[in-house]
Amino acid sequence: MPATAIYSEPVLRRVEVTAPRVEVARPSAAEATATETGEIKIATEHVSISYGERVAVRDVSLNVQARSILALIGPSGSGKSTFLRCFNRMNDLIPGASVQGEVRLDGENVMDPDVSVVELRRRVGMVFQRPNPFPMSIYENVAYGPRRRGQNDKRKLDELVETSLKRAALWDEVKDDLRRKSGLALSGGQQQRLCIARVLATDPEVILMDEPASALDPVSTLRIEELMRELREAYTIVIVTHNMQQAARVSDVTAFFTMAEDRAGYLVEVGPTGRIFTRPNERLTEDYISGRFG
Ligand SMILES: Nc1ncnc2c1ncn2[C@@H]1O[C@H](COP(=O)(O)OP(=O)(O)O)[C@@H](O)[C@H]1O
Ligand SMILES: [Mg+2]
Repeated sequence: MPATAIYSEPVLRRVEVTAPRVEVARPSAAEATATETGEIKIATEHVSISYGERVAVRDVSLNVQARSILALIGPSGSGKSTFLRCFNRMNDLIPGASVQGEVRLDGENVMDPDVSVVELRRRVGMVFQRPNPFPMSIYENVAYGPRRRGQNDKRKLDELVETSLKRAALWDEVKDDLRRKSGLALSGGQQQRLCIARVLATDPEVILMDEPASALDPVSTLRIEELMRELREAYTIVIVTHNMQQAARVSDVTAFFTMAEDRAGYLVEVGPTGRIFTRPNERLTEDYISGRFG
């Protein structure tokens, strides 16, 4: 018998987008629960993050399965972006930020002082809320990372640009303007796919996305969601979203964050997306996803 859905009817429906796309199997909510067994790509152990004296994230331990999509949901200020940034040490760039605990990528603690942060950020790429193409041609945007890593062979770069743009589902729209058109001249949705192509060109293993579609129109949003499902075949993806329908549509596993009385964010529960949205274990989760707060 189907579980009583708090949120499932409008949410877990298939999304059809008219733009051309690679055919991939889209798991139903029930199939999405089948992710509990695979290889663990990232594990956090007792991660706490503070800005100065203020604790923004408290004691979060969770695993991310390889080739799955983890969605981080929760009210604004619950530390989702802060937590996301610990996966590739982006908090290092924020003065006053300090991170405790362990973040393991393939079993290795990325917090170790001898870890190459440049290499870590290549392996764990990031896409931001506002598309941020560089003020250069589409081609140069994608070739930028590989060039910085010393790739100067024109034929190899051409190939890399093409495959990355194809994987980001942008190639057909831009292939005739690669060198003529600036990345900034693309539409918002195309810019975001360009930023994804730029990340893909550096051959990452994990892709972090912080509200990647929140600045986009609904059609571009669905296009990005389709793309995430395709990328999941090869990459591990962690996405922050305040859009619960989006979390329900794209993710395999959902982690719900909220704030304690001292406003520190913490993990309330994490589990297969289908279960979190139909039978959460915690009352706090149920209240949030049914719209009673947040
Ligand atoms: N760069 C920063 N400096 C100081 N405080 C910050 C910074 N970024 C976020 N915070 C604080 O940390 C808390 C969590 O923020 P954030 O991770 O952005 O939450 P979310 O993404 O869930 O909205 C908030 O109280 C926010 O004000
Ligand atoms: Mg945020």
